[in-house]
Amino acid sequence: MRNLIVILMGGLSGERKISFLTGKACSNALKKKRYKVKELDAKGYFVDKLRKLKPKLVFNALHGRYGEDGFVQSILESLKIPYTHSGILSSSLAMDKELSRHIFKKHKIKVPKYFLLHKDYEDNFKKKMKNKKIKFPIVIKPINEGSSLGVYICKNKIQFYKNYKKLKKEYDRILVEEYIPGKEIQAAVMGKKVLGAIELIPRREFYDYKAKYSSSAKTKHIMPAPLAPKKYKEVLFLAKKAHNLLGCRGITRSDFRFFKNKFYLLEINTQPGMTKLSLVPEIANYSGIKFEDLVVWMVKDASSNR
Ligand SMILES: Nc1ncnc2c1ncn2[C@@H]1O[C@H](COP(=O)(O)OP(=O)(O)O)[C@@H](O)[C@H]1O
Ligand SMILES: [Mg+2]
Repeated sequence: MRNLIVILMGGLSGERKISFLTGKACSNALKKKRYKVKELDAKGYFVDKLRKLKPKLVFNALHGRYGEDGFVQSILESLKIPYTHSGILSSSLAMDKELSRHIFKKHKIKVPKYFLLHKDYEDNFKKKMKNKKIKFPIVIKPINEGSSLGVYICKNKIQFYKNYKKLKKEYDRILVEEYIPGKEIQAAVMGKKVLGAIELIPRREFYDYKAKYSSSAKTKHIMPAPLAPKKYKEVLFLAKKAHNLLGCRGITRSDFRFFKNKFYLLEINTQPGMTKLSLVPEIANYSGIKFEDLVVWMVKDASSNR
């Protein structure tokens, strides 16, 4: 159908549920703006369905593996269907917390001290901790997840081994990094513009899945992030730099820790949450961009060969 927008949502990742929320919110926004939309679960034979639907473009509302890591992007490129957000390579790089860090570090963006453990090789945890001069508490996480799934703060060796054992069952590569105390700051970029930065104050141990998505967890959102003007500018600059370094497109959200006057980039998200309660919409709203208009901008920004 000539004017149809297909919203790809759901999918196969651990963030399937959140993706439906993102997809529904964006679908409703586009319907309000009188676009013709169809929601499609990116599971099973969805490629056949997509081919038959012949949409004008795809709105990618997927999060996590297969949707945020270049996989679905390469399908859309090969079908020559324009799509929203970042392209194949940027998505793959951003989804891989280790690969993207090489690029960030090379370009002087600070990241936490870290090392990698691979489940199939000799782990050498102790030696690596010593070499990198990392002390407890530490954070361990898969290199390619989202929504804080599989993120564990470990205060000692016992906690580390317990959680590492859990992660090893599901993931090949696991990041071990120093715990950065301080503030949780996230900044949003929209194309060539940087929109703003927000501070999150979770009431839980950290900004975990519940703190992110459950209103009963009562995470405090402070928009704009209460930073000295120079520091506020700095975090916006860093978010834009990270976005450009990886060649991202559309909207992205970069997650930082702010400690002792320094920003540490944890990751950049190429498919940030777009529910009405998500952070990018909140940041955009503060700079005068309504949710519907943000979604329409994303649709107009869609293309192939990204
Ligand atoms: N090195 C760290 N120091 C302190 N907190 C961290 C660290 N790494 C992760 N966290 C906490 O875990 C959350 C999720 O980590 P992140 O690396 O952004 O992974 P995800 O892709 O799951 O969002 C962060 O927002 C932060 O609250
Ligand atoms: Mg994050």
